[in-house]
Amino acid sequence: MGISYNEESRSFKLTAKDTVYMLAVINGEYLGHVYYGKKVPDEQLNYLMRLEESPFTPERNNRDRAVYLDTTPFEYPCFGIGDYRESALKVMDSEGMSACDLRYVSHRIYEGKPALEGLPATFATEKSPAETLEITMEDAHERLTAVLVYTVFEELDVITRSVRFVNGNDKPIKLTRALSACVEFDTDKMDMITLNGSWARERHMERCRLHVGKQLIDSCRGESSHQNNPFVALCEHNADEDRGEVYGFNFVYSGNFVAEAEVTQHAKTRFLMGINPLDFEWLLEPGESFTAPEVVMVYSDSGLGKMSRTFHDLYRENLIRGEYKDRRRPILINNWEATYFGFTSEKLLDIAKEASKLGIEMLVMDDGWFGHRDSDNSSLGDWFVYEKKLEGGLSALVEKVNALGMKFGIWFEPEMVSPDSELYKAHPDWAIQIKGRDLTLCREQYVLDYSRKEVRDYVYDMMRKILDNANIEYIKWDMNRQLTEVGSNALPKERQRELWHRYVLGVYDLMGRLTSDYPHILLENCSGGGARFDAGMLYFSPQIWCSDDTDAIERLKIQHGTSMCYPCSAMGAHVSDCPNHTVGRNTPFKTRGHVAMVGTFGYELDVTHIPQEDRDAIPGQIEEFKKYNPLVRTGDHYRIGNMFEDNTFDAWMFVAKDKSEAMFEFVQVMGRPNQRSRRIRLKGLDPDAYYYEESRPEETFSGAALMNAGINVAWIWNGDGIYGDFSSKILHFVRK
Ligand code: DGJ
Repeated sequence: MGISYNEESRSFKLTAKDTVYMLAVINGEYLGHVYYGKKVPDEQLNYLMRLEESPFTPERNNRDRAVYLDTTPFEYPCFGIGDYRESALKVMDSEGMSACDLRYVSHRIYEGKPALEGLPATFATEKSPAETLEITMEDAHERLTAVLVYTVFEELDVITRSVRFVNGNDKPIKLTRALSACVEFDTDKMDMITLNGSWARERHMERCRLHVGKQLIDSCRGESSHQNNPFVALCEHNADEDRGEVYGFNFVYSGNFVAEAEVTQHAKTRFLMGINPLDFEWLLEPGESFTAPEVVMVYSDSGLGKMSRTFHDLYRENLIRGEYKDRRRPILINNWEATYFGFTSEKLLDIAKEASKLGIEMLVMDDGWFGHRDSDNSSLGDWFVYEKKLEGGLSALVEKVNALGMKFGIWFEPEMVSPDSELYKAHPDWAIQIKGRDLTLCREQYVLDYSRKEVRDYVYDMMRKILDNANIEYIKWDMNRQLTEVGSNALPKERQRELWHRYVLGVYDLMGRLTSDYPHILLENCSGGGARFDAGMLYFSPQIWCSDDTDAIERLKIQHGTSMCYPCSAMGAHVSDCPNHTVGRNTPFKTRGHVAMVGTFGYELDVTHIPQEDRDAIPGQIEEFKKYNPLVRTGDHYRIGNMFEDNTFDAWMFVAKDKSEAMFEFVQVMGRPNQRSRRIRLKGLDPDAYYYEESRPEETFSGAALMNAGINVAWIWNGDGIYGDFSSKILHFVRK
């Protein structure tokens, strides 16, 4: 049983496979955090709460109540009553007061996991069921209820959290800070790992020691962002891929967020995650409720690798949905880097004809097919065909592509509007804006007010006309700018600060409608590359474009960082042409293939113009992808190299769940002169089983030898001096 309640100690124990999370109703009906970490058999650990030490118990010594409140580890700390650390909840009542004091009222434990209204969230399945604890807390003065929701996925070793607020008063109240989770650690000896970057450099890993005070990552851009990803790992100083305690936190949300660690005066750490309180308010009229999105928590006693594999298993089974969830994705060719805006039906068909001969399965028509869009300065919002480019219309093009045996996919940017568009001319008030203030352009476009249903309906109607008129089997949903002048022409002034969140809810609403009305369409999310690679988006689309940086060497870091939390099978990754359009680097075609194979795999080049030898390599590359894709989609991922620490090489493995086979991939980056080979220890195999490497079946090795002693990987040197660095190889180990 995942969740139990001990009546005597009034404590709750949440037990997953290797993890325990304990909380208790303590003195004064507060909810205290007791313990989170490696499994212990004890039913309760309340001795950790120092209940018997009198200076800390307000009931025994009310004189020091604030000391108690400022030092006790709380499950869901409130602002304004004496806890001066960062709080999870802050309110503004109808008198303008901001104190809040939540106390335990009741709880219930039940099988399953509730859906979160309007929000993406993990869900229970028959294969991986869940159990839920709801603890109802109340501020008696404001009659504000907060229901803390904890779900345990026992087998998966995961605990999730969210909070639901209800205004039980007859007066309105505003939430001005409503985070989703708080976890208290009894130490400050931890590192904080975050995934940060920029356009074309998303989710690079950074690791810093915690220090006294507050350290945070966040987004206030309206999306999860290129700059910081809503993921944090807190770990022991000496934790690495395979050793040490790690706590991973991921926010299932695609808008503004904060993830913050505060090291306190007593050398303890409070960690919080939720919607960014910056510029956030939510008005609750009497009886109204608000749900804070979900935080997924993963504890690992064996380093970052185990944490990542737990996230991957959960997301592949209990977050990603739809017909492609467990299926290999079609191998696509996207025309963006091939043509940018300069294409016609004829050009697309040339690409498709060549691509189909080589085994590519789907043509994706990217940006530029609608309105009168010849560059990024017009037509967003005008989702009707640009006849000058698509002579004869869209359905004629799609039919011709289908006749080649290929599927057809299309690009939309549904949240945007260009000033030069029919939509904007008809409805200038539909753009997010502050009346009377100049609207800031970004990539020559404005953001539509997705808090408004009529706006979403209008855009969706246009999309439907396109989707119903041709056999479209894939959509790339792009989002190419962040929000500014965040104001809505439809919201009353007391609800204007809700727009950030209402916008995200609007996006979720439309994506939800799209995916349920068109279940056969494969949806890929994208945001100027990888600015919305988050768990919220994974709920709607089984894959997300990882980055506009398609250079194989840059991708090593981007994909390594992304894999901290998100499964490789969800990473949009393509082979592109050289010199690479973003960094100007030349890399072997084979390496570009090997790196893209770790993700969804596809091509983004003009296949009619690449060197003949690259074109000739495509069928073999596709075969290789098909061979290894089941391992990438269903196996366990082990990181071996780490380009953030050592840029001489990168390497990783995918191991079948039953350990019957494993794929080892090695990329030589900046080879070290005069070092002919490197000993690399493999991971994840069965130590007692025997394996052979496919190309040399006559030699066998025990899993123990391969993992403890390792293999020698020779530096790659092709003799002509060109393809040493940036070369790659795959070794396939098969159990005898
Ligand atoms: C940004 C995306 O990341 C690219 O792949 C491409 O679709 C462009 N937008 C098109 O405008």
